[in-house]
Amino acid sequence: MKAAAASPAFDRAYPSYETTRALDELRAREYPALAAHGCTYLDYTAANLYATSQLERHFSLLRDHVFGNPHSTSPTSSFSTASITRVRQRILAFFNASPDEWAVVFTTNASQALKLVGESYPFGPQSRYLLTFDNHNSVNGIREFARARGATATYIPVVLPDMRVDERDLERELDRPGDSDPGANDAPGLFAYPAQSNFSGVQHPLEWIERAQARGWDVLLDAAAFTPANRLDLGRWAPDFVVQSFYKIFGYPTGVGCLLARRRALAKLRRPWFAGGTITVASVQGDKHYLAEGESGFEDGTLDFLALPAIEIGLEHIDRIGMDTIHERVRCLTGWLLENLLALRQPGGQPLARLYGPPTTDRRGGIVTFNFCDPAGRAIDHRIVEARATDANISLRTGCFCNPGGGEIALGLTGTELSSCFRQPEHETHLTIDDFRMCIDGKSSGAVRVSLGLVSNLADVDRFIDFAKQFIGK
Ligand SMILES: Cc1ncc(COP(=O)(O)O)c(C=O)c1O
Repeated sequence: MKAAAASPAFDRAYPSYETTRALDELRAREYPALAAHGCTYLDYTAANLYATSQLERHFSLLRDHVFGNPHSTSPTSSFSTASITRVRQRILAFFNASPDEWAVVFTTNASQALKLVGESYPFGPQSRYLLTFDNHNSVNGIREFARARGATATYIPVVLPDMRVDERDLERELDRPGDSDPGANDAPGLFAYPAQSNFSGVQHPLEWIERAQARGWDVLLDAAAFTPANRLDLGRWAPDFVVQSFYKIFGYPTGVGCLLARRRALAKLRRPWFAGGTITVASVQGDKHYLAEGESGFEDGTLDFLALPAIEIGLEHIDRIGMDTIHERVRCLTGWLLENLLALRQPGGQPLARLYGPPTTDRRGGIVTFNFCDPAGRAIDHRIVEARATDANISLRTGCFCNPGGGEIALGLTGTELSSCFRQPEHETHLTIDDFRMCIDGKSSGAVRVSLGLVSNLADVDRFIDFAKQFIGK
């Protein structure tokens, strides 16, 4: 049955949206809480939503079986082990990754996967940690491990207004070797970037993986904001490490992520400790321990063996819908949102929104970040926007979204200004860029982010555009 056209202009501009109509039925059937609470959910990058059938399947699985702790050979333990093995296989199949080449290390989230790489990567005085300004803090944090071992950390800027990297900067940095003694380390170091920015929605080229590897770099791809609405084909793209959180792809469960690592890259990592589950043998009097090979050596203690079957259920849910359908829906709605948002004008003709990121759907995902501006072109405080959105039962994000490099470039905050902030008394207790407002006069201290996903619909976007109109004339 063809759904009634909600907006002829939208239907004309985005005819392929029609092919994603099954998602409207799915939303009505499987995500009833959205309508029950009259909720306009525009924060898919922070967390995806879950379907009722995911919960039901998971709970009936737990109800109907006996799951033992997987660290032994009893029937209940073996049952859990078999279930975990199946989940690993399912994840590899989802990303088209060969089990011979790739390992799945379970973690609590993308951040823990990043920490595993950071604390174990063989950084040394000759090696480098290279990363884009545009990165989540959990990628930024690896610089502390790198520097503690004498490596240098170098940031590659992104450039306004689109917030993409100037490829000449990238090439220059990739070509710059470590400081000395190139024979001391196999690789110049580790290069980390997000497949999709959680700040601007920019999709940085996956071609960088091969370019960096051809110059000897190990590549860490943060896929957390990319995989919820884009197919990541690890048969085609082969970074050394990939991190993600599953709740961002299918909402439930929280608390499970993974490090997907090429086996030969995993073998380069050196863990700073050992734990239950990570060793083949450890002795107190013999003062020895031997790390287990492959993923086991990186999974500390008991895995969340009751939550893991829900990953298989979630991946099946996404496969049934089809990632291409999700991608197309998000693309169409993002295009409509951008067009309508950028068309809004203050009475004097100035644009209502200052966008940080690409103005079209070309090489970008469903994240739209901006500030509303008053008739004089000054940014309207994002906290006011957030408070009004809350009043309207709209869930969106404001601030810098744990991506300070993206925020600093978008908002035009300079190193000098930030250094002066960090010299203020008691700056340690001021945790956000918001609190720096007092010493960065006249500049916005945060942005507004709307992100679309799995069960977004046209009414969500139209409702947000109506909401935005209240800032005209303000
Ligand atoms: C691009 C990106 N990387 C990493 C993370 C960290 O994810 P988590 O908080 O699940 O560890 C996020 C979270 O929003 C993100 O958007």
